[in-house]
Amino acid sequence: MSDRANTVLELDDIQSGVLRPRPAPYVATYIALRIDDRSAGRELMRRASQAVTSAANPNSPLADTWVSIALTYQGLKALGVPEESLDSFSWEFQQGMAARAEELGDVGENSPEYWEKPLGSSDVHVVIAAVSPNSTRLEAALDRARKTYQSIDGIEAIWRQDCHALPNEKEPFGFRDGISHPAIEGSGIPGSNPHEEPLKAGEFVIGYPDEMGSIQTTSPELLGRNGTYVVFRKLHQRVAEFRRYLKSHSTNHADEELMAAKMMGRWRSGAPLALCPLHDDPTLGADPRRNNDFQFQEDDPAGLKTPAGCHIRRTNPRNASIAGFARIHRMIRRGTAYGPTLPDGVLDDDGADRGLMFAFVGAHIGRQFEFVQSQWINDGVFFGGGDDKDPIVASGGNPINFTQPRKPVRKRLQGIPRFVVSRGGEYCFMPGLQGLRWLANFET
Ligand code: HEM
Repeated sequence: MSDRANTVLELDDIQSGVLRPRPAPYVATYIALRIDDRSAGRELMRRASQAVTSAANPNSPLADTWVSIALTYQGLKALGVPEESLDSFSWEFQQGMAARAEELGDVGENSPEYWEKPLGSSDVHVVIAAVSPNSTRLEAALDRARKTYQSIDGIEAIWRQDCHALPNEKEPFGFRDGISHPAIEGSGIPGSNPHEEPLKAGEFVIGYPDEMGSIQTTSPELLGRNGTYVVFRKLHQRVAEFRRYLKSHSTNHADEELMAAKMMGRWRSGAPLALCPLHDDPTLGADPRRNNDFQFQEDDPAGLKTPAGCHIRRTNPRNASIAGFARIHRMIRRGTAYGPTLPDGVLDDDGADRGLMFAFVGAHIGRQFEFVQSQWINDGVFFGGGDDKDPIVASGGNPINFTQPRKPVRKRLQGIPRFVVSRGGEYCFMPGLQGLRWLANFET
């Protein structure tokens, strides 16, 4: 048997939120905490190790509600974690998201000085996320979460974000979200693309072999094992501006919808252009057995159906011919929407804050999240697209251009407005349950 078949993940030590797809529909709450007192922080870790659920028993009726807990580098420092352990974490994590602004294209209006406080500051130490299919069960999960920090002097809740599913599992721009997920060997949770060979567990969980044949460890090994990195990023979406742009650059509604689909790579229903390039097919869009069952290279090398520069082909080029090796840049996503829906047809901005709490899960912040944001979203060189960028999600200072291959002539959109603005975020480490216990009990 190959190594792949032999990997057994210690699911009972991995936090639920790492591997399990979030429920649909969902409600979720994120809470950021500051640790003002070391021993209070360690008591928080002790209680958290009892409140979070593990990824074991995926079939339990309670498995779709969970509380997860993650720490920033500043959080580990606030607990008094020894230098040797701190140094064993990934360099990007040690820096934190705000320090990586230039790399991520967080410049101009996206830059950390304009982020929602306290995101990106040294005050955010712990992020708790509670996720559930409905508000009653979320409340129960939040109660469990609150018991980990309330009534402890020296722990302060400093930020909260509530999120909720929009109708038909759509994100605020109106596209179905939460469709494509990687398969992870040993997890028992199937991926959504039948053509994708499961990825080595070490791509997503610390302590296991990854696609490069390396095993990431921390000091002590127990601290990092079965943990992972999580990137939270609050992304404000300019929905009215996106709608206005589509309208003013098309001649009729069908044209407008085609342009939106070309930018995303999927119709709003989730149906992929790869399988229905000419018109939407909502039945296909809603069918999890078919809506991710495609590749790019053999069928569409030039991007005539799915442009190489659209959001989904950039962020997962599958087997398309690109510079580099796509499998080492995959990620688990756990995005949740926030803010009120802008009613259908409204073209004027109502001033409300709405968008996505983007959440990345992976064992390699640098070659997964940062690489995808900086090279695949904010640049086009990897597929031969020059300095074209992701037309929907790009950040960075330069103009956003997008090319739609077409016969007889391509269509080129230049100077596309920025539809997504970063409101801030954090790089976090989500320990395994034993890691949490280590953080509660390590010797100083
Ligand atoms: C507000 C910002 C964003 C919006 C509205 C958005 C929306 C979407 C939608 C609608 C899909 C297709 C449905 C699906 O496969 O789940 C998708 C896929 C995806 N997005 Fe985003 N996204 C955003 C930001 C990002 C960012 C910042 C990243 C990475 C740094 C990212 C990475 C991905 C990946 C990896 C996929 C799956 C592609 C595939 O496997 O086909 N997205 N996104």
